Amino acid sequence: MAKLWAGRTDGTTAKIADDFNSSVSFDSRMYKEDITGSIAHARMLARCGIISEKDAEEIITGLEGILKDLESGALPIDLESEDIHMFVESVLTERIGDTGKKLHTARSRNDQVALDLKLYLKKEADEIAVLIKELILADIKKAEEYKAAILPGYTHLQRAQPITFGHHLLTYAVMFLRDLGRLTDASERMNVSPIGSCALAGTTYSTDRDYEAELLGFPEITINSLDGVSDRDHALEFLSCFSILMMHLSRFSEEIVLWSSWEFKFVELSDAYTTGSSIMPQKKNPDMAELVRGKTGRVYGDLISLLVTLKGLPLAYNKDMQEDKEPLFDAIDTVKACLQVFTGMLATMKAIPENMRKAASGGFINATDLADYLVGKGLPFRDAYKISGRIVTDCIEKGCVLENLPLKDYKEYSPLFEEDVYEAVDLDNCVNKRISSGGTSVQNVEKEIITIKQRLEKLK
Ligand code: ARG
Repeated sequence: MAKLWAGRTDGTTAKIADDFNSSVSFDSRMYKEDITGSIAHARMLARCGIISEKDAEEIITGLEGILKDLESGALPIDLESEDIHMFVESVLTERIGDTGKKLHTARSRNDQVALDLKLYLKKEADEIAVLIKELILADIKKAEEYKAAILPGYTHLQRAQPITFGHHLLTYAVMFLRDLGRLTDASERMNVSPIGSCALAGTTYSTDRDYEAELLGFPEITINSLDGVSDRDHALEFLSCFSILMMHLSRFSEEIVLWSSWEFKFVELSDAYTTGSSIMPQKKNPDMAELVRGKTGRVYGDLISLLVTLKGLPLAYNKDMQEDKEPLFDAIDTVKACLQVFTGMLATMKAIPENMRKAASGGFINATDLADYLVGKGLPFRDAYKISGRIVTDCIEKGCVLENLPLKDYKEYSPLFEEDVYEAVDLDNCVNKRISSGGTSVQNVEKEIITIKQRLEKLK
């Protein structure tokens, strides 16, 4: 195909070089944004008297036709094209003749691609935000359902203190709330139009960048033309947001893998979100959770890939920057798929509160409450801690637990022990006494749910 850029050279590149140079196989997903940008550009050129109104109308009608045909499938993307920008422009010229050649006035592919990418990211960020909101709502619903189910809370993966499953689940809701906030912040920072920066230095035509930005929904334009074409911070910010989001999803996935093991059996995943083994008939594998955990590494890789691509690049545009798209698109596709699958898996997951309670009952996770009981009777905490530790050691030896150690045995450790010690070590009481803000009591879980819902409302 004749090169639109055959200026100094004759454009007869080697086939192997053409293939190597081409990005259309992956940047064609920005076709809509490219056409939207071009329509705004034609309008701006006409308004500033750079092209006639008639030419602009012809260009716009041509572009709208191309969009329609691309969407219906009537116009297949020519994979021999260099990129989506070249493809659209050459089809336009094929269709409307010489007027099509006027579109690229006061513009370069460098600011064009910067614009397309921002428009595309804006759309994807909005879709991802909706998916995160759906995940948060599914998580809150589960938390509501199991707000009073007691399980061991762990530190070092050792049973530590009793908590409610509702409280544990809401931990993830607040993480995802932060993810949503980060995404919103990144979108706002990105919302600055680069179009009109041209190749790197601006243009001699008297364009109206503000007007073009306004047509495209940007409240601002970039301050510096070199920055306009060479900045990919927004892509990096999104990849960072996605990486943190995936880190949260992978921690949650890891817990679901543990909880659904025979050793824990705290949850049962729906058949719809598990797989069997081709050889072991008893198997029900948490593949979805494992894959989300696995795909996290891939998204981190996408972030690192772009960071490394941009590292040390001199100003302004360099062809290396064409390498920004594949990792970014891969991360977007991966994050969207993970969010959808994870939400479905979570929404259909059933907890097994009896097993949770069983695990919470045998591990002396109420030892802190025993110490707090003695503190309540006037003993300094350090002394209370020592006595409780001794009781636990002896109980392990005797094969009993704090709930069934006879009162007379308790009294041998301290005369402060009374009948009410059994209330102090009762699991439900241990949980429901934790009424400090952000604590695990059912009362707090209910409050947390309200707060999270309010924050979610605000982010809308
Ligand atoms: N396909 C290119 C990219 O994605 C578009 C910009 C090319 N600009 C240029 N002057 N070669 O980065």
